[in-house]
Amino acid sequence: MNDLQLFDLVLFGGTGDLVTRKLLPALYNAYSHGTINHEARIFALGRKDYNHEEYAKFAYEKAIKAGVEIDINKWDEFCKMVHYLTVDANHEDDYIKLSNTLRKEITNIYYLSTDPRLFKPICQNIAKVNLNHNNSRIVLEKPLGHDLQTANDINDFVAKFFSEEQIYRIDHYLGKESVQNLMAIRFGNTLFEALWSRQWISSIQITIAESLGVGSRGEFYDKTGALRDMLQNHLLQLLCIVAMEPPFSLDADTVRNEKLKVLQALKPLTEDMVVNNVIRGQYKACTVDGHNINGYLEEEDIPNNSRTETYVALKAEIQNWRWANVPFYLRTGKRLKEQTAEIVVQFKDIPCKIFPFNANNFANRLIIKLQPEETVQLYFLAKQPGDTNDLRPVYLDLDFNKMFTTRRTEGYERLLLDVIRGKLTLFVRRDEQEAAWKWVEPILTTWEKLNFAPKLYSAGTWGPSSASALLSRAGESWHEELI
Ligand code: BG6
Repeated sequence: MNDLQLFDLVLFGGTGDLVTRKLLPALYNAYSHGTINHEARIFALGRKDYNHEEYAKFAYEKAIKAGVEIDINKWDEFCKMVHYLTVDANHEDDYIKLSNTLRKEITNIYYLSTDPRLFKPICQNIAKVNLNHNNSRIVLEKPLGHDLQTANDINDFVAKFFSEEQIYRIDHYLGKESVQNLMAIRFGNTLFEALWSRQWISSIQITIAESLGVGSRGEFYDKTGALRDMLQNHLLQLLCIVAMEPPFSLDADTVRNEKLKVLQALKPLTEDMVVNNVIRGQYKACTVDGHNINGYLEEEDIPNNSRTETYVALKAEIQNWRWANVPFYLRTGKRLKEQTAEIVVQFKDIPCKIFPFNANNFANRLIIKLQPEETVQLYFLAKQPGDTNDLRPVYLDLDFNKMFTTRRTEGYERLLLDVIRGKLTLFVRRDEQEAAWKWVEPILTTWEKLNFAPKLYSAGTWGPSSASALLSRAGESWHEELI
């Protein structure tokens, strides 16, 4: 235990959803498995008045409601590390209390899990009481900005008080075991890397599909939409990992340099490309298995004329030697048919066919499922038993949960441990984030300029039909359309 880093962690937004549903449960799990120093302290900050017991109970109930498995005795033990402080992030004086409490000789971490509008006052107030010292780190939750300009504003402001090495920009997808495994699959094996280029690959699909709707986050979501909420960050980060050149080490800047090059090589989107190659969708009411499902416009806090997209699909191209002319199809949406995140790599067709051809056959396809299952499937064709030469698709199927029985950490747990250990590899550097905003910006401006209405899709389907057309124009199909 003694060799584990000692820290004081401050969670701004201590009564919010992220802290109670994700961050405290992640820290609880780390505590239970002995991966954080038990002498460390966690300060949850909020405006409401809670005493220790009330906050511990409140956080416990929120976590249970979110489906976290908790042993109440362990939770009570863990809560001895957790302290609630009534602090208004805008009140300068409240930071004196914080400054008097933190041990400045050890690592101090400030996790900003608040409305981004509070990022500036929080940084300013932290600095006023000299809490931005050499041992301090700051964690910024997404959404970081609303567009390139606002992201730059926040980054410029934070940079006045913290150096880039002290800033941890979270993209929780990078903390997922399955996403890190993507790097392992690519760079730990000769097999895949040798085939990983335009020479052998004809297209790649990256999907993050959610079956749930916006739930109680309507107010936030309506100002955000799928492009800003998921594509600008999670999907583009996945794209980077799939497409980057092999880094020469796992050192933070080496990996981030390679990811940045992918973002910089993305073919800029013109207005025409946005109109033709970007699909904007919004779910509408329908009945699924006898249950009426609300459309987006019927959800809580959503104006009934909202044009916010709950779905986005697009075709991207990376202009470099490895990937020129290979389409990358990216999509994400809420209220889709299934909850899944997957990468589908379609290898090129064989150069000449000597077996009878069946149009329904699909092969040469690698599917890396990131969630909910963590699997790798390799589809190929094999001869069907019998006296003909008919082929049919078969697949090799690897399930990581069956293969490894050791505990898998949740994204936030791994990322929090990395902040504590001072490891930046799985965090987004400022230039990466700017490059991602720069690339999506023409979509935002075109939609606004043309007052682009989203295409409606029924809840419980795979999205608007125009998303299928985007691929069929190139003679391709989304993976689920083939199976
Ligand atoms: C968050 C988005 O970043 O990711 C949410 O704000 C989304 O809208 C969530 O639901 C999806 O994350 P996961 O880990 O559940 O796939």
